[in-house]
Amino acid sequence: MQGNYKALWLNDDLFDECLEVIDQRLLPFIEDTRHLTTTEEVVTAIKNMTVRGAGVIGSVAAFGIYIAAMEVEGDYDALKEKAALIRESRPTAINLMWAVDKMMELLKDSDNLIEDARDAAIELNDAEALESQKIAEFGCDIIEEILKQKNKTRINILTHCNAGWLAVIDEGTALAPIYEAKRRGIDVHVWVDETRPRNQGASLTAWELSKEGIEHTIIADNMGGLLMQRGEVDMVIVGADRVSANGDVANKIGTYLKALAAHDNGVPFYVAIPASTFDFEINDGVKEIPIEERSGDEVKFIRGVDEDGVLRRVRITPEESPTKNYGFDVTPARLITALITNRGVCRADFDEIKEKFRG
Ligand code: MRU
Repeated sequence: MQGNYKALWLNDDLFDECLEVIDQRLLPFIEDTRHLTTTEEVVTAIKNMTVRGAGVIGSVAAFGIYIAAMEVEGDYDALKEKAALIRESRPTAINLMWAVDKMMELLKDSDNLIEDARDAAIELNDAEALESQKIAEFGCDIIEEILKQKNKTRINILTHCNAGWLAVIDEGTALAPIYEAKRRGIDVHVWVDETRPRNQGASLTAWELSKEGIEHTIIADNMGGLLMQRGEVDMVIVGADRVSANGDVANKIGTYLKALAAHDNGVPFYVAIPASTFDFEINDGVKEIPIEERSGDEVKFIRGVDEDGVLRRVRITPEESPTKNYGFDVTPARLITALITNRGVCRADFDEIKEKFRG
């Protein structure tokens, strides 16, 4: 694969260069893109999840700074105000704040703000792509190791949400080792959690895996525990939106329950992340990582195509029933076998993380 698919790219067909992104709200039914030409459009696209996934919203934010720099015609003070809007567009994925802060730091002494913002955003994205390739390799080494230990030739991996190339440039995080496994000729099968309420697994992960010809099965979110009890899951790999200094992992709601089931059944539970996902300001992720709360309509309504192929949004609950919709949960470090990072495999442990990433 390696960069064959892109979630976003610069487009200079319009009067001013803009960012073109795949509209992830429409997948897997319609493959379409959106042009982001203003800061407001960038902020809206992140908020309404036209683009999503921790890495990709960081990437969009970096290009958003370039778009904002064009809007303010190179005025750094005015750019700071636009940067704050982008930075606040979603609360949990630290990659968003990281990308904005990194861009603003790089640009603070720039005499050529627009051009430098463009170069910096491209560089940031290229670096993320390389990190994702490293995660692919380290993660796939673990897959090979598990197969060797179990004396098996086929691996069954369970994943939650979408952590492929739609979520992180260029191969993703959790799906990167799976793509690498395919390149190495390993017989791989993926259990894809549907990931209610927005169904990123059923619609996005399944779409990515289908495109790559990787064998997979979509399951209801509640099925993983039974599969683990029956020995039908060899390992779990998920991505993350923020990892605290002590190794607690915020990821899509439902991840924690999978980690508990994996722990109870002795199934290795891995979290694949680039360095930009660490938040060293937070020492207790369970208590301190901010959790996004989204509209209850995401629980009440579901989107899909009807028998005539028409894309529809339908309500699946009584109209008057109240809902609650936290977007993420936090898996405590003690439930995590290890983090698969661009710098190698690392225990979810304060000292080991510090040594590898802060030294
Ligand atoms: O709300 P989303 O779809 O942006 O949430 C995405 C996830 O939780 C992914 O699992 C996460 O970003 C890991 S991949 C970087």
